[in-house]
Amino acid sequence: MGGIVPAGNSQTYVELRGVTKRFGGTVALDHVDITVRAGTVHALVGENGAGKSTAGKILAGVLTPDAGRLLLRGAETAFRSPRAALDKGITMVAQELSLVPSRSVLENVFLGIESHRGPFVLEAADRFAGLTEEYGIGLAPDAIVGRLPVAEQQKVEILRALARRAELIVMDEPTARLTSEQAETLRRTVRSLAGRGVTVVYVSHFLDEVLAVADDVTILRDGRVIRSGPAAGETRRSLIEGIVGRTIEAAFPPRRPPAPSAPVVLQVRALSRAGSFEDVGFAVRAGEIVTLAGLVGSGRSEVLRCIFGADRASGGSMALDGEPYEPRSPRRAIRGGVAMVPESRKTHGLLPRRSVRENVTLPHLGRFVTAGGFVRTGGEWVEAGRVTAAVGLTGATIASPMAELSGGNQQKSLFARWLVGHPRLFLADEPTRGVDVGAKRGIYDVLVGLAAEGMAVLVVSSELEEVLGLAHRILVMRGGRLVGELDGAVATRTEVMELAFGAAA
Ligand SMILES: Nc1ncnc2c1ncn2[C@@H]1O[C@H](COP(=O)(O)OP(=O)(O)OP(=O)(O)O)[C@@H](O)[C@H]1O
Ligand SMILES: [Mg+2]
Repeated sequence: MGGIVPAGNSQTYVELRGVTKRFGGTVALDHVDITVRAGTVHALVGENGAGKSTAGKILAGVLTPDAGRLLLRGAETAFRSPRAALDKGITMVAQELSLVPSRSVLENVFLGIESHRGPFVLEAADRFAGLTEEYGIGLAPDAIVGRLPVAEQQKVEILRALARRAELIVMDEPTARLTSEQAETLRRTVRSLAGRGVTVVYVSHFLDEVLAVADDVTILRDGRVIRSGPAAGETRRSLIEGIVGRTIEAAFPPRRPPAPSAPVVLQVRALSRAGSFEDVGFAVRAGEIVTLAGLVGSGRSEVLRCIFGADRASGGSMALDGEPYEPRSPRRAIRGGVAMVPESRKTHGLLPRRSVRENVTLPHLGRFVTAGGFVRTGGEWVEAGRVTAAVGLTGATIASPMAELSGGNQQKSLFARWLVGHPRLFLADEPTRGVDVGAKRGIYDVLVGLAAEGMAVLVVSSELEEVLGLAHRILVMRGGRLVGELDGAVATRTEVMELAFGAAA
């Protein structure tokens, strides 16, 4: 609080002082003090629901605090709208991007700020070139935004902010949907923005990323600041302790190998899909967790989609519990006892106004229907309660509308959806993206628990830690082919990377 400013420190840009924000009975922020220094990257970390997005939204004028003060360069201020915040130089790149997919990069960058003087297109093209040059962000101005990969769309959002002369950009989980290479590029962009005097408030669940990119870190727990200070004073371990309020002994639950006699649940033989992958063969046994590792684009997700019936294979065959298995649609796969948590769940099939319970049981309503065609809500409640507890959904009651849950808790709900009705084969594509460290462990516990109950589990993951920590067996794909198999108990990072990248250079 207004203490001594160490020599060489940059000036305070914005401060939250005693900020409180409630949503009905939920206290999202409870007398929060945060000081963000100009030209620094300030990370906000905390569990799902800790209040990170809420704090970001208050800074960016998306939400107004119920109590407390906001100081901008020492002067008290209040933002009644995002527009008002932007006028003072603050804006937000949200957890969900908000671009117009059918328009070009150029149009999206300047949308809403078209000049009324002179020929817009020429002027915009000049300004665009100036911006990309100044901030070192390369993008083709005429590309259609909807056709760009997420990583590029994010750059568009950042340029959009810069075009509006933003001095502080709040980035809410900017790397949650990026590959590790894309995330690295974004981190470089963020550092270079800070180097050019732009202040960045950076929300992330990736603690190594936070330690690499941030100057300062604020840890939030249950809407309160646990501590706030230089990132250099934190370690992965100290952050985890601060975030969850206890030490997590191990990131992964112990693995019990499947019994030698465990039957094969899924057998994949010479499976191919033209243009995606070729000649992929492997088996997953009951009680076994197999991870599919490899670089993004190596065909892992595509294999999963074929097994789930979302895409059709062009060659090869599969068997489920020894029976020929030719899923023609996800619906049939589900009926056959296959469940899949798809990638980028946030955008998939979520009904924001409906309750968590309804969202969880929606694809399974058939299970809860009586002979007369009525939904047996009793059974539905019990099952929804079971599966949401299994993924560690706390705080949010299962009766709350989905829209009121924090981003990570929405993900957990959608994960829970696929636990309804005890599937035989559980497929998951990047199951812990955007989920906090405590909840990650929760999801690992769920996967290990499912395997222990005799389910066959097949996981695509780009997080090496996860691949190594979770799997009984690791399959590595490269360029659409299966290039190796490793024993999860003894495999090393290097072995996985060498297989993923090809022969050691
Ligand atoms: N519009 C809203 N209506 C009701 N409750 C809300 C609303 N927005 C947030 N909350 C609640 O406020 C708390 C803080 O949510 P917030 O989104 O800030 O969490 P977060 O730290 O960003 O979590 P995550 O890591 O999951 O994104 C949560 O309990 C959440 O359910
Ligand atoms: Mg959030």
